[in-house]
Amino acid sequence: MLAATYRRYGPPDVIRIEEVARPRPKAGEVLVHVRASTVTSGDVRMRAFKGAGIFWLPMRLLFGVFRPRNPIPGMEFAGTVVEIGKGVTRFRVGDAVFGMKIGGANAEFLTIRENAAIAAKPEALTFEAAAATPFGALSALDFLRDFVRIKPGQRILIHGASGAVGVFAVQLAKHFGAHVTAVCSTTNCDLVAALGADRVIAYTDVDYTQGPDIFDAILDTVGVTSFSRCKRVLAQTGRHVFVVQTLIQLLQAIWTSMRPGKRVVVGFSGGDSMDDLLLIKSLIDSGKIKPVTDRTYRLQEIAEAHRFVDTGRKRGAVVVSIGSP
Ligand SMILES: NC(=O)c1ccc[n+]([C@@H]2O[C@H](COP(=O)([O-])OP(=O)(O)OC[C@H]3O[C@@H](n4cnc5c(N)ncnc54)[C@H](OP(=O)(O)O)[C@@H]3O)[C@@H](O)[C@H]2O)c1
Repeated sequence: MLAATYRRYGPPDVIRIEEVARPRPKAGEVLVHVRASTVTSGDVRMRAFKGAGIFWLPMRLLFGVFRPRNPIPGMEFAGTVVEIGKGVTRFRVGDAVFGMKIGGANAEFLTIRENAAIAAKPEALTFEAAAATPFGALSALDFLRDFVRIKPGQRILIHGASGAVGVFAVQLAKHFGAHVTAVCSTTNCDLVAALGADRVIAYTDVDYTQGPDIFDAILDTVGVTSFSRCKRVLAQTGRHVFVVQTLIQLLQAIWTSMRPGKRVVVGFSGGDSMDDLLLIKSLIDSGKIKPVTDRTYRLQEIAEAHRFVDTGRKRGAVVVSIGSP
């Protein structure tokens, strides 16, 4: 099969298109013919091995010390089940599916455990739109539910509302009954307003840290806010949640957890829950949330897709369309 590969960490040029062996499903696994995948912010981070910060060593041990352990990048996929392993009961050959697996999705075929983050593709979505969903949606769900601890009526500010995590964070926070203030660049204000945000602030025009509004939670999906600046606009027991964190925020999280009052919270999203993906699917099926797609590239153009994601300016997800073998 054709697959994107990277055999060392580095710039987008390290990515090649290669002919590699098609994987075979083991017991409990399905083989998916991938029709669409994506290049996420996580994929470019893993490729470049930049921004791991304090997690450099554990990440390197996990993903490969000297070179990537899994040479095929890509996390999100949508496609068709073409073979099932022994004992598989959730899927049949021919099922249209979507899901997430850390590594291996930028290829014509992938194997995945049937009880991992894989579910029937929402009927209303194309393969491209379905592939553009799991990374942002599962991360946003994890952060809102487990780290923000979102409740109806809560006032939440989402900084980085136009990115892959942000577009789902805005929609899910609205679904959970919060009052959402979304922050993004001027260019993306219309997009974010259309996702249902109650208020949209362009960070280039307005400094909300100096404004009168108070928030029960601030969710920073980009890693550009600081607790010292935002403290003033956080409610007395407000949470400042970082999707991307540095050593300072980790120390602040430990320090603020030991005392009453405003807290810094850092977290991690595994993105591997079948139940969470089923919840996301049901919210898409009922029209409560939808993916946002930016540019679409062919598999052969994937290095170009990495270059674009490296700019840090994508809106929602960047799709990789994978034709028939
Ligand atoms: N901890 C975890 O488990 C976890 C899980 C998922 C993601 N992440 C990390 O979270 C980050 C966000 O992920 P993502 O996929 O949503 O990224 P993304 O799609 O690449 O987000 C890009 C967005 O960031 C905004 N942005 C760029 N520079 C900015 C700045 N200086 N100030 C404010 N906004 C800025 C841009 O919006 P504008 O152009 O509108 O400014 C753009 O829409 C990534 O670093 C990713 O690795 C961590």
